[in-house]
Amino acid sequence: MRHFTNVNDIGDLRAALAEAIEVKKDRFAFTHLGKNKTLLMIFFNSSLRTRLSTQKAAMNLGMNVIVLDVNQGAWKLETERGVIMDGDKPEHLLEAIPVMGCYCDVIGVRSFARFESKKDDYEEKILTQFIQYSGRPVFSMEAATRHPLQSFADLITIEEFRKTDRPKIVLTWAPHPKSLPQAVANSFAEWINATGYELVIANPEGYDLDPKFVGGAKVTHNQDEALRGADFVYAKNWSAYEDPNYGKVLNMDRSWTVTAEKMALTNNAYFMHCLPVRRNMIVSDDVIEAPTSLVIPEAANREISAQVVLKRILESL
Ligand code: CP
Repeated sequence: MRHFTNVNDIGDLRAALAEAIEVKKDRFAFTHLGKNKTLLMIFFNSSLRTRLSTQKAAMNLGMNVIVLDVNQGAWKLETERGVIMDGDKPEHLLEAIPVMGCYCDVIGVRSFARFESKKDDYEEKILTQFIQYSGRPVFSMEAATRHPLQSFADLITIEEFRKTDRPKIVLTWAPHPKSLPQAVANSFAEWINATGYELVIANPEGYDLDPKFVGGAKVTHNQDEALRGADFVYAKNWSAYEDPNYGKVLNMDRSWTVTAEKMALTNNAYFMHCLPVRRNMIVSDDVIEAPTSLVIPEAANREISAQVVLKRILESL
């Protein structure tokens, strides 16, 4: 595997999940792969889980790791070509990217949607330029439209806890005070659709996701109807995708918060969220603290998903 930006890059999902189990059994079995290899992790946005789990995965593989927070200590980067650079950004991404490539063997990039241009966000303008100009394998640590390391970890977790061959999985929108990207929801839908499991997406009107990611999933604006019989409930907020409201918060309807009453509609479902989560906006305290909450196992599996991806990239060098 050269680059990792979406579900297609991982290839056969059963093989990837089997590899995840192998890695999890003995995460230090492949330290030879990363010897004298350097991972550069570039963050345009904040992170707790991605930063720690990916660094840990790289160390498990014997790699050296450099972390760069672009907005703290590096030169501010201009990203648009043709701009007269007489403002506060002294360096252009088009020089910075190949320079970064000189100091490492693999690059991880976190660059969220900016909500300045839906076209730029959905064309993955920043991530694509890293792939084009760094000369290195690049993997997404959450880009504008997808968060594949998270989705892979979520799927590993579902595999560990599912009790049926084809579980019913509900991705439900939940309220949040700030504009959040659609990346986690898009990516989750993309990965679950690739499994063939039953996926229902519940969101208020105005929050329908890009049909490209929805695929064959059922979409409903009735959360209670969606939750009935669910085996897994994956809560996430996202801002509006559709024009003219792209990137906007249309409402903070707390009747969509995942509560014990809502979970009572399900088939004793597991609760999932990628974290960080705003309690009593997205999910009530009792639901996230219940034994059926998988938020910590999901976070733990971020190390495993990152390690499988890095292992495959190292094997291809
Ligand atoms: N879930 C996730 O990606 O967490 P961080 O934003 O903390 O990395």
